[in-house]
Amino acid sequence: MNAKAIDYHDSFAELCRALEGEGAFLVVEDSEGKPNPMTIGWALLGVVWGEPILSVFVRPTRHTCGLIEKAKRFSVCVPSGGMKRELQFCGSRSGRDHDKVKECGLKAAPGRTKGVSVLEDCALFFECETVHKTFVLKDTLDGAIQGRYYPSEDFHSVYFGRILKSYRK
Ligand SMILES: Cc1cc2nc3c(=O)[nH]c(=O)nc-3n(C[C@H](O)[C@H](O)[C@H](O)COP(=O)(O)O)c2cc1C
Repeated sequence: MNAKAIDYHDSFAELCRALEGEGAFLVVEDSEGKPNPMTIGWALLGVVWGEPILSVFVRPTRHTCGLIEKAKRFSVCVPSGGMKRELQFCGSRSGRDHDKVKECGLKAAPGRTKGVSVLEDCALFFECETVHKTFVLKDTLDGAIQGRYYPSEDFHSVYFGRILKSYRK
C-alpha cells in the first residue's frame, strides 16, 4: 500500500470527524492472525506517560474484547468516506458469527508492525500496542451518562494503545 508517515496528531480533526460521523474501524487479529474489524465511535487521542496514545473503548460483550485481551496490538483505520455500508456491517455483526473482512469485500493487509492488520480501503491508519487497560467505572460516572449508555451495566473496557506508526494514503 502506498502511504506516507505522518505525525500522529496531524490528522486529529479527521479522526474526530469520522468518530462523530459514520465511525472508524478497530482491527484486532485473532491468535491465527486473522483480522476482525469492529466499528468504533469512541476513542481518545493524546499524550500520556510522555507518549502518543490512542485509547479505544470496547464493551465486554464484543468479540473484539476477547481478541484485544489476547493480542498485543491493534490498528485503528479511518475511512475518508464512501464506506458507510462496511461500517454499518462491521458495527452490527459479530466476528463470532461472521468473517467480516470476507463478507464485506474488505481488503485486509499486514500493517507496518508485526501482529497488526489494516484495511487498505481506508485513508488514515494508526498502529498501536496496548500498554494499559482500565474500565469505565459506575461509581464515578455521571448519572445521566450511565442511564443513557449503560442501562445493562456493560461498562466499556478502555485499552490504551501506544501509537507505533501513523500514516495516510
Ligand atoms: C457507528 C458505530 C460506533 C460504534 N462504536 C463502538 C465503540 O466505540 N465501542 C464498542 O464496544 N462498540 C461500538 N459499536 C458497536 C460494535 O461495532 C458492534 O457491536 C460490533 O458488531 C461488534 O463486533 P465484534 O463482536 O466482532 O467485536 C459501534 C457501532 C456503530 C455502528
